Amino acid sequence: MKMQRVHIALVAVLGAGLVVLACLFSSFLGFEIAKRKITPYGLFDKVHKKIERLEKRLSPPAPRTDVFKDYKIDTALLTLHVQSSYVGVDGIPYPQKHRNYGGALTSLGDQVLLLTNDGSFYAAHSAKDIHRTGIRAPDRHLDAYLRAQQSEALAGYQHLKDALRYDDILVIQADAQSWLLASYTEFHEEALCYTSTLARVPLTSQNADELNILESDWQVVLRTRPCLPLKAHYNAIEGHMAGGRMAFSPPHTLYITSGDYHIDGMRSNLDALAQNPDVEYGKILAIDTRTWESRVFTTGNRNPQGLLLAPDGTLYSTEHGPKGGDELNILIEGHNYGWPLESYGTAYSGGMLRDATTFGRHDHYTAPLFAWVPSPAISNLAFLENFNPHWDGDLLAGSLKGGSLYRLRLQQGRVAYSEQVSFGGDRLRYVHQHSDGRIVIWTDNYELLFVEGVERDTEDNLRKAFFAENTYDALVAMKIESTLASCQECHAMVGAEDLNAPPLQHIFNSSVASTHYRAYSEALATMDATWTREALSAFLVSPGDFAPGTRMPPLGLSDGPVLEGVIDYLEYINNQY
Ligand code: HEC
Repeated sequence: MKMQRVHIALVAVLGAGLVVLACLFSSFLGFEIAKRKITPYGLFDKVHKKIERLEKRLSPPAPRTDVFKDYKIDTALLTLHVQSSYVGVDGIPYPQKHRNYGGALTSLGDQVLLLTNDGSFYAAHSAKDIHRTGIRAPDRHLDAYLRAQQSEALAGYQHLKDALRYDDILVIQADAQSWLLASYTEFHEEALCYTSTLARVPLTSQNADELNILESDWQVVLRTRPCLPLKAHYNAIEGHMAGGRMAFSPPHTLYITSGDYHIDGMRSNLDALAQNPDVEYGKILAIDTRTWESRVFTTGNRNPQGLLLAPDGTLYSTEHGPKGGDELNILIEGHNYGWPLESYGTAYSGGMLRDATTFGRHDHYTAPLFAWVPSPAISNLAFLENFNPHWDGDLLAGSLKGGSLYRLRLQQGRVAYSEQVSFGGDRLRYVHQHSDGRIVIWTDNYELLFVEGVERDTEDNLRKAFFAENTYDALVAMKIESTLASCQECHAMVGAEDLNAPPLQHIFNSSVASTHYRAYSEALATMDATWTREALSAFLVSPGDFAPGTRMPPLGLSDGPVLEGVIDYLEYINNQY
């Protein structure tokens, strides 16, 4: 018995010793492998990177819908009601101006689908409901590009941080199959070159929340030819000049824009691409979705950021000009749009384009339907239908530098006018009309905007709504109306227009003399008081007694229901944006 125990103890000690030795040896082995990067290291590294990528894929950044805004923008014909949320990436504080360059929108089922430049897909019903999905974007080989940047072959090259971008997404129904398409700039490590690439994935559901799509599920259907070598001058890959925007013409023609990546004979050591018939850059391509074969549709295009098939079959594109000359083109097969031989814009120096025959003119090649000078950096296009009768049938273009929408009124095939609608300078990367009619906008500071058109807050509309909500005796109502009409002879009662008197829309409960009106009398300017109901009533009954020296004349009003009604109205308009 005793001997047996000793045996067991001995075996145990020996066993433990062996395990410790084995551990020491294997960690030594691991250390040496890692240190010397000997054969299996690459494998470990690969597995490790794969795991890292998988982790990233499983936990894409959460949307930050806590930063919610609700505001209105007045335009000529209607008021835009905007609701927006910040779809920031974890750890990036709000507001993050101009950090995100890229991304795209499309509609899937009743949701808007958003692809951000880090390859995450979000789905949204509204600005209050933006959530991540189980869809991951195709691989643009960013890891390989980052690796290559460290290699000797690329020593001295300059690299943009966001050279490889996702340019567009689109849901199409082709040959009884629903596809999600994505276009992007792809890096090819072996040959040290890049292409504009189009990938597709079949959709098993029209509900983004039911989809689980991995990077490896995407099938590449097109790589533009040839694979472009990196530029040794200026920036190696200029992904912001990739175009990549898509439009689908059922049953099986897909159009895609292909930018010239700034290889225009000017800022690079390479020959211009847009006029070269043998390359698929600086072109619009047409693709047959049965075979995914591409053909050149138009030539002489620079960096087309928008592509739109209007309901009447017209194919429009928007295109970045150089300095000046952003274009709206009507695309016709076989036409040459002139870049870089002709443009309404000039070289960045302000001089002539290097190979141009004309200066700031468009005489020999197909001229744009409309052009912007100076360039607001026009982004993409939407054709409005079922948005609001005042805007339906118009084209809507976003802009980056311009921070505005441009609404183009079409009249018998020409642009009758362009209305600029400012969004406070935010770079509008992508404009999309959702299937329910709302306009959806993705900005470069990670904000997703949902826009509806409402009737303008005109005096008439507000007045009507006010009397519909309040019941006054008919005679009193008439007198209130005529008194308000008399105020309006001097004051703007809606909006901030500075006539001969301060604008009154937001006077109620604000400090005396607090509008931007510049000609206040001493009496009001120095008065420390608030326009409460009582103060307003005292002032309106006798301006001179309330504020001796005021320039508002006596109006012949006295206490009573009419005066109360007038003040009710001041309170009411104060609550309307
Ligand atoms: C004949 C022109 C005229 C008419 C009519 C008139 N106002 Fe004025 N109102 C003025 C001027 C001018 C001032 C600025 C007075 C000053 O700076 O002393 C003023 C100032 C005011 C202010 C103070 C604004 C501020 O920023 O503190 C209120 C409130 C106001 N008016 C209300 C009314 C209402 C309500 C009516 C109609 C019932 C009316 N006014 C009719 C000319 C007019």
